[in-house]
Amino acid sequence: MPSITASILTLLVSSSVVLAVPAPVASSSAAPVSQISDGQPQAPYSTVVPVSQISDGQPQAPTAQASSSTPAQGSSSAPALATPASTVSASSPYSACGSDCICPYAAPYLHDLATANGKLYFGTATDQPGTGEDTDIIYQKILNNTHIFGQVTPANGMKGMNTEPELGVFNYTMGDVVVNIAQDHNKILRCHNLIWSTQQPEWLTSENYTWTRETLLPVMENHIKTIITHWADVCHAWDVVNEAFASNGSSSASPWLDIIGPDYLPLAFQYAHEAVQATGKDIDLYYNDYGIESPGNKTNAVYQLVRDLQAQGIQIAVGLEAHFTVLDPNTYANQAAVMSGLQDLGVTFALTELDVRFPTLPPNATYSYEAQAYRYWESVSACMQYSKCEGITVWDFEDKYSWIPETFEGQGEADLYNSDYSRKPAYYAVAEALQGQACTVCGDVSQYQTTDSDTCADPSGNCN
Ligand code: XIL
Repeated sequence: MPSITASILTLLVSSSVVLAVPAPVASSSAAPVSQISDGQPQAPYSTVVPVSQISDGQPQAPTAQASSSTPAQGSSSAPALATPASTVSASSPYSACGSDCICPYAAPYLHDLATANGKLYFGTATDQPGTGEDTDIIYQKILNNTHIFGQVTPANGMKGMNTEPELGVFNYTMGDVVVNIAQDHNKILRCHNLIWSTQQPEWLTSENYTWTRETLLPVMENHIKTIITHWADVCHAWDVVNEAFASNGSSSASPWLDIIGPDYLPLAFQYAHEAVQATGKDIDLYYNDYGIESPGNKTNAVYQLVRDLQAQGIQIAVGLEAHFTVLDPNTYANQAAVMSGLQDLGVTFALTELDVRFPTLPPNATYSYEAQAYRYWESVSACMQYSKCEGITVWDFEDKYSWIPETFEGQGEADLYNSDYSRKPAYYAVAEALQGQACTVCGDVSQYQTTDSDTCADPSGNCN
């Protein structure tokens, strides 16, 4: 933990401050970017359009090239935006953000920009309880600011291992933590996920159970219907099945596949569809996956799933996870091609888990913060072009809590905020993309542009 954060938290804890979350900061109290004091970065951040100047018109076509008149800032240094400890008051951390600092929860406001430009939300995953996020006051203050994040997804709390830990015994405690955040702060809730290959209940793979297709199907049906029904009033959308296709378009390995067979996938949607119909609610039912952000066999398999379910009158939407590396071939053009296909199929879709990690650390001239910003900009810009792309969710927003370092050894720094709560260029690139603007914080983007959709440009070979 950075020392500044540690000192803030120490100060707060030693002052016996109640860990209540202050109300979101109104835009009028935030320090305008133009008031950044000496020693803080000015250009290109000062080019971000204030919320007050946002047009309420339709999204403009993005310009895929950054303006050559707005060259990149030093290519490998993060903006130093941390608040000096002396300005932090014990009773209200960062509340004194004034002319000598940039509040990590000041404008530009991503959710406000998204909704002003035709999207339903800009949101984030959050991983509570048990990770430290729930006791991190500054994290909470950013998360709870609905101007920034108007939607939340529980990163783990609603997964099978937590919701049905014992066969037939349901537990909503973990999921309710994020349900409460959504309700307390007026955020849309995406519910994640019902059927997956991992993080499933122990009984699914336990030797104590001898599952057959006939015995497991009713259990899957009960799992899906019980959970959808329980949270029917709060879930805007459910990721019904997660990551069920391999890169060649065949079924990916899963206990559900092994025991039930490949039709576990459409059957899961049928059960979910029936559950939603019974509740009379309007809940989008998503198929959610990575590696479908560019055209290819896996994407074609998803298109076919959509067609099959549509032919059966079963509702489906598609989640593009969008876990990217800084240099990978999921270009604006490739993402737009996939989104165009989904739009033509008439399905709702979303960017559900966007993050852009560095394949090697620390960032350098090739894998720069500006290149990362461009990847974020491309993805959000593509979504802005399609009316059926309903919103964008980042997979948590602060590097300290990112899932990447644990999952991809040696990789990281994938989120919009550095672990000291300063914002990366990527944050401002997203703000620009949400307004249909060219990226002014991405530097000379020609050096990051990849055109070959079949080649993974990441030297680690890990493009998804
Ligand atoms: C990740 C969580 O963020 C981690 O905390 C957990 O250890 C593993 O799962 N695709 C998904 C998410 O659909 O559920 C995954 O979340 C990230 C990849």
